[in-house]
Amino acid sequence: MSYCGFRGSTNTGASFTHQPQNEQILYDSGHVAMTYTALCSLIILGDDLSRVDKQAIAYGLKNLQLQDGSFQFCVEGSENDMRFLFCVASICYILNDFSTIDVDKAVAYILSSLSYEGGFGQGPFLEAHGGSTYCAVASLQLFGRLSSLTDREIELLKQWCHTRQQTGFQGRPNKPVDTCYSFWIGATLTMLDSYQYIDSSANRSWLLSVQDYLTGGFGKWTTTSPDPLHSYMGLSALTLSGEAGLETVYAPLNITKRAVDYLHKLQSSPNW
Ligand code: FPP
Ligand code: ZN
Repeated sequence: MSYCGFRGSTNTGASFTHQPQNEQILYDSGHVAMTYTALCSLIILGDDLSRVDKQAIAYGLKNLQLQDGSFQFCVEGSENDMRFLFCVASICYILNDFSTIDVDKAVAYILSSLSYEGGFGQGPFLEAHGGSTYCAVASLQLFGRLSSLTDREIELLKQWCHTRQQTGFQGRPNKPVDTCYSFWIGATLTMLDSYQYIDSSANRSWLLSVQDYLTGGFGKWTTTSPDPLHSYMGLSALTLSGEAGLETVYAPLNITKRAVDYLHKLQSSPNW
């Protein structure tokens, strides 16, 4: 077993708590969502990743892949679904190393999660949802395997995404719109080269309406307080339609193109 990757924080560590001796400490190992976000943060901040043990992280991912091709988030065992598969695809893309996971199996898991509705669920036979659809399409793109989808599947997928637009976007039929789906679905449509067909002005109005003019930031709805996730997603979503004054985001990784260009430069440097 290999306990690699970034942890959420040191707060759950035994040495910082009143953990009785010999009691097993669960969930204090690396987590793929933390590893994805830590690596992204380092790149955004201009770190050269030279102090990151890239090989150990890549090797650690091997222990997380399950028979069906999906991934659990930590080595102790956990849920497994499209979210964690996306985190792993992003980590491999950032490390420029796909050699420690079975990409064919991961792609098979993604394809088996395509719902009859046209979008992707978190796993096989589950309801299509904006979040899992983003994770599935972004993973395929990061694996260089978007071409695994047939023309018909892509058409239905685009149709499912476009019909999620109300003013902003909802995550699934008959549910209220929520700021973050302007990114999850908007980014999916960007990757499918179909973003230009959304009602950009209605989406922009929605996004501007969920801002809090006193404290700043974006909420999920006009009636909710702003939070960091919806503020980031709201800004990210605005960049997809070229909002002036914002750096464009690279849809599959949800960090700016500037940061991704920097990553590519790092990857091709002799010290990588
Ligand atoms: C709400 O479900 C869930 C969300 C708003 C998050 C969706 C996003 C993802 C699953 C992608 C996460 C990605 C990573 C990398 C962890 P709900 O059932 O409460 O909301 P609904 O009514 O809008 O469907
Ligand atoms: Zn949301």
